[in-house]
Amino acid sequence: MVSIASTKGHQNVSMLGIGAYRPNRVVTNDEVCEVLDSSDEWIFERSGIRNRRFVSGDETPRSMAVAAADRAINSSGIDRAEIGAVILATSTWKTLTPHGAPTVAYDLGINGVAAFDVCAGCAGFGYALSVAADQVRAGSAKYVLVIGLETMSLGLDPTDRGTAFIFGDGAGAVIVGPSEENGISPTVWGSDGENASAIAQQYDLVEYMDRANALQGTDPEVEKVGRLAIRMEGPRVFRWAAITLPKALSNVLEQSGVSTDDIDVFIPHQANSRINDLMKKNLGLAENVPVANDIENTGNTSAASIPLAIEEMLVSGKAKGGQIALLLGFGAGLSYAGQVVKLPPAPVEPSF
Ligand code: UT7
Repeated sequence: MVSIASTKGHQNVSMLGIGAYRPNRVVTNDEVCEVLDSSDEWIFERSGIRNRRFVSGDETPRSMAVAAADRAINSSGIDRAEIGAVILATSTWKTLTPHGAPTVAYDLGINGVAAFDVCAGCAGFGYALSVAADQVRAGSAKYVLVIGLETMSLGLDPTDRGTAFIFGDGAGAVIVGPSEENGISPTVWGSDGENASAIAQQYDLVEYMDRANALQGTDPEVEKVGRLAIRMEGPRVFRWAAITLPKALSNVLEQSGVSTDDIDVFIPHQANSRINDLMKKNLGLAENVPVANDIENTGNTSAASIPLAIEEMLVSGKAKGGQIALLLGFGAGLSYAGQVVKLPPAPVEPSF
């Protein structure tokens, strides 16, 4: 009988280093409201957002992903030649073909490595972190580079009241690898395709091409359908979040074998500071447990929001390397993914 070889990795894995990149251009609520029928007060009160950042000049999805990843590698202190896989969590790479991770790996000087994208909306980082931890545990890679990257500004309709004020651009990355003690819990994750239309592109690719073809010759109209813009039924997502996420959070704690008293910091996806404050309260986390609030000046950066928020907390001193953090990503799909993790050390080269 033929015996097929298997692999065996390290059961204990952790995030060994983190890096982030924030675009140079800061966009205030007032600037958004030059086009959008809204106000600075409404946006801040409903979402907790004051500013977001948009790419400009030479900045691209590729350059942001590479900058964040390079910082994560340098912070981890590992030899980049030992990275066995690159996972890029994104929904806003400019092309579906080719996907982004191989070119990012090439730019990082590790061409040839296994490289693929994970597309799970705002839960993307949690999904990618889970796959990376499993890869190291299974022995299919020694170190895995996980990048959360979004360029939400490229697919935004600046006049849409449901999305124009929420989203921002940025990238955050971590190195996942073996560690003495375990630093990444089992993942609690799931999806709800029945409600997937609550966050969706306005047209799918076929509809978009049909409309563009039908409107050929009328340039302004073609321009109008030129965006594969995202639409979001905010209140519907809010209601789904209120039912689904508390259960997910208690499952994460249960599967991690920790209690709310063990949690030093809470770092949920930065979708809305009201949702995050509610989750903290419902979970019964102590008053003095800090909750990430990177949304205030970074906006909602979808798959990039959790690594960006971790980086912000480490750089500003609100959290420290080695502390126990509760993570939860949620959004399009409608998908979610949560873990309890040990935070990596503060980055050597902060993004701000
Ligand atoms: O990252 C992916 C996951 N996404 C989320 O988790 C998002 C979850 N949802 C949300 O964060 C919130 O639903 C929003 C921040 C998007 C919106 O806040 P809301 O409190 O749910 O507002 P709403 O849509 O229920 O609208 C409330 C009022 C309405 O007016 P009336 O009917 O009360 O008179 C809207 O017409 O605010 C009005 N409105 C606005 N006013 C100014 C809706 N959008 C705007 C706007 N500016 N942009």
